[in-house]
Amino acid sequence: MKKSKNFLATAIALLFAGSLSSFAAATITIHADQPGAKINPAMWGIFFEDINFGADGGLYAELVKNRGFEFPDSLMGWSVNRAQLAKGEVTVRDDAPFNAKNPHYVRVRSEGAALFGLSNEGFRGLGVQAGAAYEFSAQIRGVDGTPVLKVQLYGGDGTLLDSVDLKIFAGDWQKISATLHPKETSTKARLALLLEGKGTVDLDFVSLFPENTWQHRPGGLRADMVQALADLHPGFLRFPGGCIVEGPHLDGRYQWKKTLGPVEERALLFNRWNTEFVHRPTPDYYQSFGLGFLEFFQLCEDIGASPLPILSCGMACQFNSGELCPLDQLQPYIQDALDLIEFANGDTNTVWGAKRAALGHPAPFNLKMLGVGNEQWGEQYFERYAKFAAAIKEKYPDVQLISAAGPDPAGDRFKLAWTKLRELHADIIDEHCYAKPEWFFNNTHRYDRYDRTGPKVFMGEYAAQSVGVVSTKNRNNLECALAEAAYLTGLERNADVVRMASYAPLFANTEAWQWTPDLIWVDSLRVTPTPSYFVQQMFSRNRGDVVLPLEISGAADTNSIYASAVQDEVAGETILKVVNAGAQPCEIIIAIGGGQTSGTAAVTVLAAQNLSAENPAGWPLQVAPQTGAETFRAGGWKHSFAAHSLTVIRMPVK
Ligand code: AHR
Repeated sequence: MKKSKNFLATAIALLFAGSLSSFAAATITIHADQPGAKINPAMWGIFFEDINFGADGGLYAELVKNRGFEFPDSLMGWSVNRAQLAKGEVTVRDDAPFNAKNPHYVRVRSEGAALFGLSNEGFRGLGVQAGAAYEFSAQIRGVDGTPVLKVQLYGGDGTLLDSVDLKIFAGDWQKISATLHPKETSTKARLALLLEGKGTVDLDFVSLFPENTWQHRPGGLRADMVQALADLHPGFLRFPGGCIVEGPHLDGRYQWKKTLGPVEERALLFNRWNTEFVHRPTPDYYQSFGLGFLEFFQLCEDIGASPLPILSCGMACQFNSGELCPLDQLQPYIQDALDLIEFANGDTNTVWGAKRAALGHPAPFNLKMLGVGNEQWGEQYFERYAKFAAAIKEKYPDVQLISAAGPDPAGDRFKLAWTKLRELHADIIDEHCYAKPEWFFNNTHRYDRYDRTGPKVFMGEYAAQSVGVVSTKNRNNLECALAEAAYLTGLERNADVVRMASYAPLFANTEAWQWTPDLIWVDSLRVTPTPSYFVQQMFSRNRGDVVLPLEISGAADTNSIYASAVQDEVAGETILKVVNAGAQPCEIIIAIGGGQTSGTAAVTVLAAQNLSAENPAGWPLQVAPQTGAETFRAGGWKHSFAAHSLTVIRMPVK
């Protein structure tokens, strides 16, 4: 925004200034009588990827890791447990399995002298709350004898938290369930399965879920993590990634059709973040797809977010193999996209609409957007995108396609993408940017210069990096959050070009992350929002409907001030967002051009003493928004913007 001298604003400043020092005060003039672009209701959204244990060990509430013994090391996450004098054997088998798609299981044979069996460590510890209910289930086949299977929870310190006895008789596979109520809270509990008495038992799909999942859906999502998403009031949810969409090679790509139906039917897949960073190896990272595409669509519906699935375009991750599906063999990939639209929106008498209904959701999911490829670049991408676009637009002309501008927000690959995608009349181009805070402060005017007639922009992945991209030393501090906030004022002012934006990555497990910074940190029981999370929340909860032009003028130093304004037409409120990146409070006169109203403004401030302030996991929040009220006069009133702050002011203006 131009910080030009504005004589009207200066006059207003003089009128309302109460003291000599006020003559130097700057003015923000909001031209509420000159409404600009309409803001996309889905402007501020969420980027979800199964990175940092975001799905397995995160949002998907399953507490048992490697529940189906399908990891290449079949007993990873499991330990053999034997009491003193116990004799027995645990073997991994795949003959006559419970389910051919997940063929491995364990056979536990105990000679009966003492308790013998195995236990699971969970995703770096099972999180259990004292007194809460946990639903255990497993596929069990009694082979010989009539032993008792003791299902037990132990705390991190070895305390027995609860125990249930199940009598096992010889027979075929059957699902057996039980409820456990741990007597103490533990973030590092273990689940033990121990045979008492002589006998042999086969075990598969060993599972433990909190009863308190989101909306109490059995086998569902972690309630506290979904609540954190719902609290963002997101306009859209992009899923399932990220590079995970592309896979390290084409066989490792995300295939949505394989994520539907009974969880036992969903074959396990390697997670590319398992080995991606040699400095953060995560050997126990696989995709169970318990959080599959039906669950993603349901999540969108639950939290009021527009679904934005991203599909493989026939190119594996270009940071990995870059394997290409030949152009003349691309049809199955394109068909996946067409079928997905039918799955989401089709009548129940269509093939894929019927499948959706059979899975319990006859109502459509109202899919309006689809991403073709994730972070692709180069000619091979444009050739493939063109084929997808032709087929999808022919059948579903109203579905908006998201195309990729590559991994960087500038440079040759980026420029080529824009040239080619403009020629292809792309709808929305997905830009990505991970950079130092300075980049974000310096680029608040980036979109002022964009062509208003070409494709629109989806700022699909961004986050300020305090040290550098993929540095393990990056911190989720206030400085990064304010840099992002300043940048978002630029996106908001250009809402005619920038139609959507999402921070990335979303979740990180404090015990098992690969990438930092991230929006929300979790451990097995707690959720910690970062300062960046609150920036997202302050923007999305104060989205407004129409951009209002504004000017910053006056003598005071406003170099560290970044601002944007919108009108919320339903609430009848003018909303001003201001970042003060400076180390001193800044007094500014706020004037709403042409307005005479006065009243009470709601003022929300995110600030802290130091730019290095963070929200360490497990501590009381150090950086969180504070809300107050202030009397305002549309003709001009003075507000002191705190040092190092983002402030959102809502003013009811007729
Ligand atoms: O957000 C982390 C990764 O960054 C995404 O998977 C990828 O799209 C980008 O390179």
